[in-house]
Amino acid sequence: MAETVDLVIHGGTIVSPDASYRASIAIKDGLIHAIGAADAMPPAKETLDATGLHILPGAIDVHVHFRDPGYPQKEDFASGTAAAAFGGVTCVFDMPNTLPTINNAESLADKHKIASAKAYVDYGLYAVLGDDSIAHVPALIEGGVIGFKLYMGNTFGRIPSPSTGAMLEAFEVVAPTGKRISLHAETNSIMERREARLRAAGRTEPIAHLAARPAVVAVEAVERAATLAEWTGARIHVLHISSAAELRPLAEAKARGVEITGETCPQYLLLDETDYDKFGGVVRVNPPVREKPNQQPIWDALVDGTIDMIATDHAPHAPEEKTRPDIWTVDCGFPGVETQMPLMLTEINKGRATIQDYVRWSADAPAKIWGLYPRKGTLTVGSDADIAIVDLNREWTVDDALIQSTSRISPWHGRKATALPIHTIVRGRFVMKDRILQEDARGTGRSVHAIQQMPKPAPRNTDSTMQAITSNTGR
Ligand code: NCD
Ligand code: ZN
Repeated sequence: MAETVDLVIHGGTIVSPDASYRASIAIKDGLIHAIGAADAMPPAKETLDATGLHILPGAIDVHVHFRDPGYPQKEDFASGTAAAAFGGVTCVFDMPNTLPTINNAESLADKHKIASAKAYVDYGLYAVLGDDSIAHVPALIEGGVIGFKLYMGNTFGRIPSPSTGAMLEAFEVVAPTGKRISLHAETNSIMERREARLRAAGRTEPIAHLAARPAVVAVEAVERAATLAEWTGARIHVLHISSAAELRPLAEAKARGVEITGETCPQYLLLDETDYDKFGGVVRVNPPVREKPNQQPIWDALVDGTIDMIATDHAPHAPEEKTRPDIWTVDCGFPGVETQMPLMLTEINKGRATIQDYVRWSADAPAKIWGLYPRKGTLTVGSDADIAIVDLNREWTVDDALIQSTSRISPWHGRKATALPIHTIVRGRFVMKDRILQEDARGTGRSVHAIQQMPKPAPRNTDSTMQAITSNTGR
């Protein structure tokens, strides 16, 4: 008699980046124990009938802002990870623009305490890389970060953007550690100058936000970051790719062998400049939602692999912070962690890409790129049982009033979808079951930095780093 497992899921269609196939899946001690025919499954304490449903690796959303500590009116780690659970997301990487900013060992340790007490899903924590944290890189790595975030341009939280000189030094310091540096790639000096002129000209309507940040703001930043990454051997990730024009420097850098990856978000695939009239300041986000001709090239880049993955930049704010009449005073961003999977699968249902593509963008690529694969991001024997069970045949309409996030205001409101996550499982435990939050899962999420294994770093030009020249060992 085979040993008893904790859970067997029968009747669903398992999706991997290469195939979809009907199989049962057995889970024991948080891991995937077996995949195969129903009658080959061991006895189980619990079974779930997933007939008619699809079984996907849980999404890994590498870009969320859960605002904890500092902004409980927007979100906290409990509401944010509950939203993730409802969105089929089993792991999130949380950004460091909280209060305080995560830029030293103390603030990081405090955030780890908060997150581990409240999280419904697994998580990684980012630390800021900037002038005031370069010296803290070793302590931040010791304290457990998934990677670093560098703000090339100003956005919510007003974290100062480092000069190109400081950025080069920061890349030199992180390159030998192997950690990836995620970039808010918008060049501050261009957009600040344009915003000042627009304000002086009395422009306060929503679309003025787009006028301040045309695609060149992002293109120049991606190009410059790629140059510094190539020089130093640092690994970089371009967050929230919003324009067709950024694809050229991204593709060229990849072709040169730069360790560069990129993400886009549903807002750049599904929204366009007409949404400023429809939603006003609610649609204000950095980088901005752009002109419609940007969309198809971004879809094409996802399909051909130039863009590696989907993230959300889940950026919740309170309604009064999103509805001010002067666009320059509206907080930037809106929630998305809960709606990414259903909205993207709705596009898959329309035939815009395959469900295998989707699994590659949502789970496989993020796990590989952050050194978590095959523990995360795949449904394979021995992997963590992080699972989204979705109905690809469910018509519903997004209603901001019903979302888990504390921020109940978004441009997704009223959007029709044809897919819905029904159950979400993290390391074998239901965190959302039949669209009901499993309260006893609060505080069971764990930081994944401990299981991260980045490939061997390959720093370059090490004889001319700031460290080398000031210690007289370099040229
Ligand atoms: C983000 C936020 O609110 O923290 N806002 C946004 O407009 N995207 C910050 C960011 O990712 O730029
Ligand atoms: Zn950003």
